[in-house]
Amino acid sequence: MAQGAVFVTGGSGFLGQALITALTARGRQVVSFDLAPPRGTAAPKAPGVITVQGDIRDPDSVMRAVLDHGASDIVHLAAMVIPACREKPVLGAEVNMIGHINVLEAARAAGIGPVVYTSSIAARPRPPLDSPANLYGVYKRCCEEISKVYFMDHGVASIGLRPNVVYGPGREIGETAFVTHAMRAAAERKRYAFPFSGAMCFQHVDEVTDIFLRCLDAKPEKPVVSDLTTETNTTDEVIAAIRRVVPDADLIASDTPRMAPSGLDNTPLRTLLGSWARVDLDEGTRRTIAHFRQLTGQ
Ligand SMILES: NC(=O)c1ccc[n+]([C@@H]2O[C@H](COP(=O)([O-])OP(=O)(O)OC[C@H]3O[C@@H](n4cnc5c(N)ncnc54)[C@H](O)[C@@H]3O)[C@@H](O)[C@H]2O)c1
Repeated sequence: MAQGAVFVTGGSGFLGQALITALTARGRQVVSFDLAPPRGTAAPKAPGVITVQGDIRDPDSVMRAVLDHGASDIVHLAAMVIPACREKPVLGAEVNMIGHINVLEAARAAGIGPVVYTSSIAARPRPPLDSPANLYGVYKRCCEEISKVYFMDHGVASIGLRPNVVYGPGREIGETAFVTHAMRAAAERKRYAFPFSGAMCFQHVDEVTDIFLRCLDAKPEKPVVSDLTTETNTTDEVIAAIRRVVPDADLIASDTPRMAPSGLDNTPLRTLLGSWARVDLDEGTRRTIAHFRQLTGQ
């Protein structure tokens, strides 16, 4: 298929904004589809970006946006996150699962593949009941299974990525936005109390964006679902990394544990992509604090 626009759902969100910035910097035309008004790099007059304000639950809007703008690639990011799915489970199911099907249907009609989409580490079954720990995770798991069936039934290829905690400039909402909030507070010389403790996979947005870009060039022979990393850091290590940049950062650790991911496996992604631009915790912390310092003129 000739190279056309990249259709990015959730283009007004955290990962969407970062991806659109990277895509347009590479000269790609982008169609940003989001319920929320366009902002930042997806702002109405941003060069190389067509914005479509629409609801992923509406099959016609999704189909039209893909076909009318000649998209040749899809990155599907639009979703409701953990607290929103907990509060509004029916809406969460519609947005996260029906929306996913609408995207696959559009991909099928346009002959696009692989569809690159974000699942989540929350999709992994875990104790005590060997199930995802929240409805958001159940919906994400379901999207992975739906994607496999779309490949069997219709040949639509897909790459499902399971991030855990992505941090960096632009991360404002969601249960795991706390790392970014802590780095921002340190940059602004404010006190910050961590809501959780424990080990998690903290990945800087620049690394995750690089993974998206490489996935767009990949040609998987079957549906891929993969963790992004097997590396974890503790919240104490995050605090230490922040204090290496801001030695007197006023950070208060939490004694509320958050369940650590286990059995991580990113072999499918490494097999597909080889390598990508790694950003370790120290470098990611430095970049994030530098961004917030620049914003506040410090
Ligand atoms: N950020 C992370 O750490 C993380 C971790 C795991 C998985 N993910 C997944 O990555 C994706 C992007 O995450 P993010 O952090 O950028 O989230 P975000 O909340 O910043 O962005 C999601 C976007 O989806 C849009 N959206 C919500 N409902 C919609 C609807 N009905 N129609 C159209 N658009 C709608 C929102 O307006 C928002 O702009 C999501 O699928 C999320 O589940 C993110």
